[in-house]
Amino acid sequence: MTEKRETILIVEDDAGIAALHRRILERAGYQVEWCARADDARRRLDRGGVDLMLLDNRLDNGIEGLHFFRELKESGVDLPVILVTGFSDDATIIRALRQGVMDYVTKSSEYLSYLPDAVRRALDQVRTRHQLEATNAQLRQAYAELEQKTEELRQTTQQLWQAARLASVGEMAASIAHELNNPLGIISLRLEGVLAKTPPTDPRRKALEIIEQELERMAGLVSNLLQFSRPGKEEMSSVDLTEEVDRALELMHHHLKKRGIAVQREVEHQPVCVVADRQKLRQVFLNLVSNAGDAMPHGGTLTLRLKKQSLPNGRPGVLIEVADTGCGIPREILPKVMDAFFTTKEEGKGTGLGLAICRRIVQDHHGCIQIESQPGQGTTVRITLPASNGVNVERLR
Ligand SMILES: Nc1ncnc2c1ncn2[C@@H]1O[C@H](COP(=O)(O)OP(=O)(O)OP(=O)(O)O)[C@@H](O)[C@H]1O
Ligand SMILES: [Mg+2]
Repeated sequence: MTEKRETILIVEDDAGIAALHRRILERAGYQVEWCARADDARRRLDRGGVDLMLLDNRLDNGIEGLHFFRELKESGVDLPVILVTGFSDDATIIRALRQGVMDYVTKSSEYLSYLPDAVRRALDQVRTRHQLEATNAQLRQAYAELEQKTEELRQTTQQLWQAARLASVGEMAASIAHELNNPLGIISLRLEGVLAKTPPTDPRRKALEIIEQELERMAGLVSNLLQFSRPGKEEMSSVDLTEEVDRALELMHHHLKKRGIAVQREVEHQPVCVVADRQKLRQVFLNLVSNAGDAMPHGGTLTLRLKKQSLPNGRPGVLIEVADTGCGIPREILPKVMDAFFTTKEEGKGTGLGLAICRRIVQDHHGCIQIESQPGQGTTVRITLPASNGVNVERLR
């Protein structure tokens, strides 16, 4: 295959000089075209395919070549130009170079002998510039990829730290919970007996009821700790999420009503099935609805959405959204809310394990959980889980 010859456009009003230039440049291997007038040259350039312009500085009708060059440049034409000046006019040459003309030749006695060299040099310079631009673009892209990889690495490192921290916290939590569980059970049992023997009129009754309430709270904390720290055996089955949503709303009805919270249920279709541990999913819904309720102490709207959505790997998935119009989460604490024991609730109100448990359960189900929040406007928790499509339950364990 022969290499495409470069095209030089001669813009020169003198036909004799143009023919001379043409001959020399054709002999040097270029394809040459000629326009006598600036407006013809303009039309020719608009059609494209010209690699360099050899421009006479004194054109027909007294138009200055340099003026034509400036017009071209202003209209966005980017083309190497060699200016041919009639005599050694230093002022014009300096002006020309300042305006971006690539080179110049003066019509002296020997200029024809170095014209092909000047053209070659200019074209080589342009080619080098293009290569540099391409290399630059590649470098920029490589840099962007490097930045992305660094960010991925940072995130992975953070997750690893998180996992290591959770493992040790989990171990500690498990042992404390285990130690507390038995005495709590015994105290509860004894208390039940004492309460049964204490008539409602007994002045000690009130104190006993307070003890009972506090015991319940402690039992809740211990059960949360155990949930969090013991992975537990999963009981996988096909679960219709719409049923679980309704169940969670039913169980939390009082909690929501007390705060004057309106509930919206947006379910795209029914059933929405996943293969999951029903009890654990229920825990997730209850934790999220409970958080949403706490975020709207003076009312608001709780929206529960269920719809199909592909997973990042392209497989069919289910999107669960729990959105509230509550207080929102300040930007600086958002990255911490899923950490175990992180809570902003007053002492005795929260253990800070709700979201940590949710995250663990969702991850155990090969899903992901994200939280988006606008302080003062509300919070949306998004969970995606793989959809079940008659998959063998055993395979998901
Ligand atoms: N929907 C929400 N709106 C505003 N803040 C929230 C919401 N959900 C969670 N948070 C914030 O995240 C923190 C951690 O939540 P998480 O459910 O893990 O613990 P908790 O609710 O404080 O306690 P627990 O759930 O163990 O009783 C909360 O204390 C609260 O600051
Ligand atoms: Mg909570």
